[in-house]
Amino acid sequence: MDLQNRSVVITGSGSGIGRACALEFAKEGANIVIADIQLDAAQETVSRITAAGGKAFACGVDVSKPDSVAALVSETIKQYGKIDVLVNNAAVQVNKTIVDTSFDEWNKQMSVNVGGVFLCSKLFLPYLKSTKGNIVNMSSVNGFFVEPSCAGYCATKAAITGLTKAMAIDHGPDGIRVNCICPGYIDAGLAEGYFQSQANPAQSRAEAGKLHALWRIGKPEEVAQVAIFLASDRASFVTGSAYVVDGGFGSGLPPK
Ligand SMILES: NC(=O)c1ccc[n+]([C@@H]2O[C@H](COP(=O)([O-])OP(=O)(O)OC[C@H]3O[C@@H](n4cnc5c(N)ncnc54)[C@H](O)[C@@H]3O)[C@@H](O)[C@H]2O)c1
Repeated sequence: MDLQNRSVVITGSGSGIGRACALEFAKEGANIVIADIQLDAAQETVSRITAAGGKAFACGVDVSKPDSVAALVSETIKQYGKIDVLVNNAAVQVNKTIVDTSFDEWNKQMSVNVGGVFLCSKLFLPYLKSTKGNIVNMSSVNGFFVEPSCAGYCATKAAITGLTKAMAIDHGPDGIRVNCICPGYIDAGLAEGYFQSQANPAQSRAEAGKLHALWRIGKPEEVAQVAIFLASDRASFVTGSAYVVDGGFGSGLPPK
């Protein structure tokens, strides 16, 4: 989908949805930067891409740290000479109420989930201007359809949806598009962490499926396909949008 030789940076692509995005973008012929705080995991994603004939390199980065993100930008420009697409996907999730959440846990979620989008966007935007590139932020249905015991996380996802719209307005005149995706439950790390935090993880997982009209949770690849569409020229008039990819999450009461 016209992503051949595009330079695509994906944060948090050492696992889950980010890794699926990396593999699917690589299949489209894009050159990928696998940016993750876990360098081993990032290298594993690179191995899978190169084994399939694609092009990628790994970069250990903490998206909440300005110097670390600056190094990611330098390495991207050094290796690929440009950036066309930034996928801000890295996140952490604390499964607690606000009363039980420590100040450090609150700050960590804000600095990784929201601060990471801020920092990566801020430092890559000057380069995206020259390619008329675009940004895809990974938000969540939890930004507007919340659940118990993950209050801080829900707040970060609402912030990302707002930030997406604000950046779209500010940078649209430069030809830069900014969109976000709001997935429902997806079979990946953060959902698994949520299930494990519940009294009965297997039951929690089974019940989560039934919150979706399709009566199942989603696959990371199903989110990746929408990221590819948003990043491609086929979405040339799509900006400031929050794309819901949730199998009909919360569409109504489940059948009896
Ligand atoms: N899994 C779901 O059900 C679900 C639903 C809605 C939205 N999302 C969103 O999708 C994205 C990916 O979630 P996932 O479930 O695939 O999670 P995951 O835990 O599988 O992957 C997250 C990745 O981010 C990396 N990471 C964490 N902190 C980092 C930091 N400071 N700097 C760089 N990398 C860091 C981790 O090492 C990990 O590889 C998140 O933004 C999440 O909010 C997930």
